[in-house]
Amino acid sequence: MTSAEVHERIADLRAQVARHDELYHRQAKPEVTDFEYDLLKSELAGLEAKYPQFKAADSPTTRVGDDRLEGFATYRHRLPMQSLDNTYSEADLRAFHQRLVNLFGLEDLAYVVEPKIDGVAVSLTYEKGALVRAVTRGSGFEGDEITANARTIRTLPKELKRPGSKGAKGAPVPNVVEIRGEIYMTLAEFERINHEREEAGEAPFANPRNLTAGTIKQLDTREVARRKLEIVLYGSGFCDPALDHAAASAGTQNAFHGLVKAWGLPSVERFWTTHGIDETWKAVQELDKLRHSFAYATDGAVVKLDSFAQQREAGSTAKAPRWAIAYKFAAERAETRLKAITVQVGRTGVLTPVAELEPVLLAGTTVARATLHNQDEIARKDIRVGDFVMVEKAGEVIPAVVGVNTARRLPECVAYVFPAVCPVCGTRTVRYEGEVAVRCPNVNCPAQVRRRVQHFVSKAGVDVEGLGEAMVDTLVEKGWVKSIPDLYRLQRDDLLLLGKSVEKSTDNLLAALEASKHAELWRFINGLGIPHVGASAAKDLAGKFGSLEALTEARRDDLLAIAGIGETMADAIIAHFNEPRNRALVSQLLTLGVAPAAPARPPGGPGQLSGRTFVLTGTLPTLSREEAAVKIDAAGGKVSSSVSRKTSYVLAGDEAGSKLEKARSLGVPVIDEREFLQMLGG
Ligand code: IVH
Repeated sequence: MTSAEVHERIADLRAQVARHDELYHRQAKPEVTDFEYDLLKSELAGLEAKYPQFKAADSPTTRVGDDRLEGFATYRHRLPMQSLDNTYSEADLRAFHQRLVNLFGLEDLAYVVEPKIDGVAVSLTYEKGALVRAVTRGSGFEGDEITANARTIRTLPKELKRPGSKGAKGAPVPNVVEIRGEIYMTLAEFERINHEREEAGEAPFANPRNLTAGTIKQLDTREVARRKLEIVLYGSGFCDPALDHAAASAGTQNAFHGLVKAWGLPSVERFWTTHGIDETWKAVQELDKLRHSFAYATDGAVVKLDSFAQQREAGSTAKAPRWAIAYKFAAERAETRLKAITVQVGRTGVLTPVAELEPVLLAGTTVARATLHNQDEIARKDIRVGDFVMVEKAGEVIPAVVGVNTARRLPECVAYVFPAVCPVCGTRTVRYEGEVAVRCPNVNCPAQVRRRVQHFVSKAGVDVEGLGEAMVDTLVEKGWVKSIPDLYRLQRDDLLLLGKSVEKSTDNLLAALEASKHAELWRFINGLGIPHVGASAAKDLAGKFGSLEALTEARRDDLLAIAGIGETMADAIIAHFNEPRNRALVSQLLTLGVAPAAPARPPGGPGQLSGRTFVLTGTLPTLSREEAAVKIDAAGGKVSSSVSRKTSYVLAGDEAGSKLEKARSLGVPVIDEREFLQMLGG
């Protein structure tokens, strides 16, 4: 390369890295994988090292990412929050160890190996044991104050447990302590929100990390509370008195994890204390096998010197500590042929393209379908039918097509043309300004009818027993159900035509439909499928308006007066009921005898746990399990012995075991005794 070419390449790389920094840190919408990003950055660092004459003071290689946004107060960390150097190879990890061996003149160094949680870094400050502040990493020196948002995290204690705290182990509490960790979202919650967004015509988030970053930076705390965030703590910042002397003589990272637990804070699921590099490498590999059972997405292992004294001695470079390193696991990726692109039509008419793949093994499961998100994504990646595509598991569960191997593209592969008509009813599709979604505008499209009816009768709707998805398909296919009210117009004689000996099930179905006319009001509201309105908003609306008629007449101001209803939702509700067809639907339901049950009693009264299922695990600080079960029963709730997706809450005490893990992996909320008693209004 000539000097001019080098200069040009450096400028190009700097621009690319800066753009990806902006997309990643500020917009939470990265376009490349971490690996691709690291490749660009290391090429840039290599050129800058070789050609020092082109080194610039503000190169992205010397700057750390900055995620500060307007609208939040800036807060200076008492001790900077550093980032970590990344490695992708065993050799690099061994080189890291060798540097420390040379420094200390000791082979047998003790390390702690921890999962690298793929979330958003946060620093919490507890003063005299009380949570006073939560701040993002920001520039590393100062970040955004997100305390109000962090307080919505149900598993984050507002008070540290001290010795003698009721029923808890506790540990001495310093005057001031900064505790660092990661805010994340379970995979179940990620899927729930993405599904809701797709239905509302919005671009889905690529992975749980981006969604977490987007959520934590919302100015409207009420919106944050609707998305269930979680947290895990793994590090220490400023501490007065110093941690070595304070609580539980936490002079090691190993002891620090014990301290985090004793204070009652959520800690990493597993960590390994190792000696020397061979043991450390073994632990890293073991973590790689285990990590899929964790509640959070992990993208690597963090290896840290165990002793705080040794950490101090090793020190830091401008950007990262010398005593720790992140070993990134290779992304689980596979290449396979894209056989076809099918397009599904959702409840609100949104067309979602799906990749039909030559089945391929990916992270232990066979993948034959993957999401392509929307029209723009296909165009941006230039994905063509017949291509060999790279499939990755975003957030480790949902496969997505991340790119094309153009070297293997055959000449007959032509650019994909997104359907101009609905694949189900043939209506010309539309795309509204500002939306990524392409929609079928025909509300009578059988695909939409089917999905709307399925949603209405589902467990999140009026919950009609015996009316599963397949049965709804049949009813729509037969032309008996063209809209939700048609469910209540079904004729016994028609249903009997469906086959022999269906008499009993027909009668059961009709009885279940009849009973559903008196489902709770929020179930109808949720079942209507108003964009952006989910179950928890439906409950708020039911509590405020008390009837379907009143809701159809809601004014914007009335809606905004409800805690938990933001502008987007208020506008969606107004737009929904401005549509004559939607108003007609409600009045038809009422004419057909729909009479929702009175809204659930306000918290504190008897019956406030009705419809909720609890699983008890571990030893509670004050209540015995029997006492807790009696309280649940008295409040109308149910107690179950095993955790499933249907569990509403896991009430966990000390020494909680596999049930707690199961709850975490399914994204079931875990509460402690104090939160439980609060729920009961006590
Ligand atoms: S220690 C100076 N431990 O990874 C030490 N970081 O790539 C700084 N991360 O900014 C962090 N899991 O947000 C540490 N077990 C873990 C981690 C972890 C995830 C994140 C953290 C950090 C980033 C660095």
